[in-house]
Amino acid sequence: MNLTPFLSLADFEAAARRTLPHAVYGYVFGGTEDSLSVKANRAVFDRLGFRPRGLTGVANRSQSVNVWGTEYPSPVGIAPMGVTAICRYRCDMDLAVAARSRGLPYVLSGASNVALEDIQENPGGAWYQGYFPGDKQRLERIVQRLLRANVQVLVVTSDTPVAANRENNQRNGFTIPFRPSWRLLLDGMLHPSWSCGVFLKTLRQDGIPRFLNLYEEPGPAITAEPEQGFRGGRDLLTWEHMSWLRDLWPGKLVVKGIMHPGDAEIAVKRGMDAVIVSNHGGRQLDGAMPALAALPGIKAAVPEDFPLMIDGGFRRGTDVLKAVALGARLVFIGRPALYGASVAGAEGAGKVLDILRQEIDRNLALLGCENINELNTDYLDPVQLRSFIGRPL
Ligand SMILES: Cc1cc2nc3c(=O)[nH]c(=O)nc-3n(C[C@H](O)[C@H](O)[C@H](O)COP(=O)(O)O)c2cc1C
Repeated sequence: MNLTPFLSLADFEAAARRTLPHAVYGYVFGGTEDSLSVKANRAVFDRLGFRPRGLTGVANRSQSVNVWGTEYPSPVGIAPMGVTAICRYRCDMDLAVAARSRGLPYVLSGASNVALEDIQENPGGAWYQGYFPGDKQRLERIVQRLLRANVQVLVVTSDTPVAANRENNQRNGFTIPFRPSWRLLLDGMLHPSWSCGVFLKTLRQDGIPRFLNLYEEPGPAITAEPEQGFRGGRDLLTWEHMSWLRDLWPGKLVVKGIMHPGDAEIAVKRGMDAVIVSNHGGRQLDGAMPALAALPGIKAAVPEDFPLMIDGGFRRGTDVLKAVALGARLVFIGRPALYGASVAGAEGAGKVLDILRQEIDRNLALLGCENINELNTDYLDPVQLRSFIGRPL
């Protein structure tokens, strides 16, 4: 596919909207209840402008960042996303390949549909995100599977103790477990390239997509309710489990969904290696503040060198630069990567990452900052910054 006309991440969103059935696009695009947090995740970037420097000499620009001794060529990764099989045939693999081929992190969702062992065999290097139950025996068995698959980074999502109220999915007739209906069939028929290239191809080659990585063993089809339930026991998960996991898990341990400085402090005390500041892309608690707005408070609560990661609403290189200036080391993108993969597989998701990389490079130069590691709040509008962080500088 010729991707030359795709100039920005928004172009991929528009193309995905045309390509995907209404219900599938709605699943990716949507938030919860009134979508307050989805809207706030974008609006927050308008509240913070730049204060660029000039004549600094920016010929040798670098946007590479170091996390736990690993050098990433760009401060960007792909966030975990579940049930991607409805967007593209073996979509998790495409996302993994796109990130890996660019040396960037990819987080495989626990609710994904390609076996993590296949992804670890080639391209390898995936981080794993768990939707964990508060059940130590099961946790121990899942951890054994991750270790066998040579997973190095375990991300535990903390903001999903119960299912969110995704009214838009219900209105579109889209539920998990997935229930086929005439309405969904018609929706599919109106999108023939998706019906042939995704739906029928997946059924023919692999059968009904399954939750292959949610449990210690490959899980059930997305049309069935598993014995354990999808979310069974998640509301029992506590920091005590995280401390216990810390003792069990030899790799890096990250908590995703941290929004409060107090929780960031606990994460540090309990030996976590990083946190991802996130409101789940506005897909859990509607009305939760944007992650970018939570970042300054969290930055102030953790030691200087503690890696802070963030996601939610990042669509431009300048968005990434604002988060880095406020103290984030890595920025994850969700929907845009999935739109890219929906439109053009690994190539499309890769182009999304490339566009962000180019935008970061160009805007670093325009900011007068040669090395992204030197970016700080001095590059932000001081008046806006003061009200943004809600306390004196
Ligand atoms: C379709 C979709 C599925 C998602 N599934 C998961 C998941 O399985 N686990 C998880 O921790 N977060 C999940 N998320 C949230 C993302 O990891 C991330 O926090 C969010 O998408 C970032 O916001 P953005 O989409 O605006 O970039 C999902 C998001 C989307 C859009």
